[in-house]
Amino acid sequence: MSMRTPLCLLLALCFAQWAVAQTEFERGRYLAAAGDCVACHTAANGRPFTGGRPFVTPFGTLYSTNITPDEKTGIGQYTLEQFTASMHRGKGLHGNLYPAMPYTSYRLVSDEDIAALFHYFMNLPAVENSPPANRLMFPANLRFGLSFWNWLYLDDEPLAQPEGKSAEWQRGNYLVNALGHCGECHTPRNFAFAMKGAPSMGSDEYLAGNVLEGWDAVDIRPHALRRQGWDRAHLQELFTTGSSERGTLFGEMYRVVDHSLRHLSGDDRNAIITYLLDESEPLPAVPNNTGAASERFPQGRGDFVAYCAGCHGRGGGGITLAFAPAMASNSSLRADSAHNAVAVILRGLPAQRRDRIQARAGMPSFHRELDDERVAGLVNFMRTAWGGARQEVTAADVAEIRRALDDEGYLTGNDQ
Ligand code: HEC
Ligand code: HEC
Ligand code: HEC
Repeated sequence: MSMRTPLCLLLALCFAQWAVAQTEFERGRYLAAAGDCVACHTAANGRPFTGGRPFVTPFGTLYSTNITPDEKTGIGQYTLEQFTASMHRGKGLHGNLYPAMPYTSYRLVSDEDIAALFHYFMNLPAVENSPPANRLMFPANLRFGLSFWNWLYLDDEPLAQPEGKSAEWQRGNYLVNALGHCGECHTPRNFAFAMKGAPSMGSDEYLAGNVLEGWDAVDIRPHALRRQGWDRAHLQELFTTGSSERGTLFGEMYRVVDHSLRHLSGDDRNAIITYLLDESEPLPAVPNNTGAASERFPQGRGDFVAYCAGCHGRGGGGITLAFAPAMASNSSLRADSAHNAVAVILRGLPAQRRDRIQARAGMPSFHRELDDERVAGLVNFMRTAWGGARQEVTAADVAEIRRALDDEGYLTGNDQ
């Protein structure tokens, strides 16, 4: 036997070990995308994962922390057990974490996935960066008070795995409810900012929609998605590009696709869709009824032609999706709640540019041009013409949304 054989064996072994570590790192990177850690742990224009994004709550402002492995300012001192405790129970090294860190959902992430996430974060370059100090009122500034919150609201049931569902559905169940933490935005919250129910509690309100930052994180339960005309193909397109003939994404949801959903494998996106639609068929398309709508809402029709048709097309067919979406097949007009239709008109939408190919023109705001009466007429015209509206919007409804948006500072610019 020559000397070369043991050396080769040794090299092969080292290589195998390196390859395993590499795959664990890649797996961790993928899971971090599925969990969208970057969205919250990065400040505007900050380096990824170094913290400092503000969370404005009625109790004051809280900042996300640095989760690079820096010993002083990051999570360099965490062991796997401590990292697991922060993900599963909101127990940080320096006390209880505020539930702005979605451990109420991450508690369902498997130990195996947590280990891969830990490996990934511990092998990122360590960056020294301290986020600003929190500015919270008494008693919210006392972390030990959160033990009581956890005792009340931190569920400890495992993820429900109902029988008779496909493996694909179960995978979607895990991605949506554990890593994807979709419920944290899409579920109404109680006075203590806890989600009203969780999948394991069988609550009717889970994923039933919630207004946040002035947008309605819409009802995404199967029957609501069906009524809005969503099917597999359109959701797949929406979750890959952020827009489709059924509607475009904006606000936080645009970022969910940009940082998270578009980086998932097609299989995992399909699993999410299987879970969301729950194997149900979309309802038949809503017949367009522009004639009746023009008769009932002549001012709304006139305003649509004057202010909107230039981009969205006279017949509501849009120009091209890259320019402005169609109204005639738009899910936002078919939703039970007219919140987003009203809010889009009042505040407009910023232009989005992901790269040279994926860019979308913005939409101007109309809160100065159109008063509550006319916004209501316009929304009623569109919802009747293209959305099969079951309920009319009143000027008082618009006034209420306008007031809330104004109070929260969303009606200041002309393009926000
Ligand atoms: C919705 C926002 C949000 C998301 C998504 C999020 N975090 Fe956090 N996280 C926070 C906030 C806010 C804090 C700080 C909480 C506090 O100070 O009490 C935090 C704290 C932490 C801590 C404790 C750090 C310390 O300084 O002690 C760890 C670890 C952590 N997050 C890991 C993660 C990982 C891993 C992911 C992705 C799987 C993730 N977070 C996703 C908001 C988020
Ligand atoms: C300058 C072009 C332009 C004008 C004028 C315009 N829009 Fe838009 N609108 C857009 C673009 C672009 C989007 C998609 C932006 C995005 O999602 O990022 C959009 C989105 C929307 C949406 C949300 C659609 C969805 O897919 O969820 C609604 C509703 C809407 N517009 C209604 C109107 C109404 C009503 C008017 C007239 C008062 C109007 N728009 C005027 C360009 C325009
Ligand atoms: C950080 C908050 C946030 C998270 C997390 C979040 N969403 Fe959303 N989502 C929103 C908001 C706000 C809207 C409404 C704005 C829009 O339609 O773009 C929305 C809209 C949607 C829509 C409706 C699109 C339409 O036009 O009808 C779907 C479907 C959706 N989200 C699915 C998901 C799924 C699946 C997840 C988890 C992987 C998720 N969301 C996580 C905030 C969030």
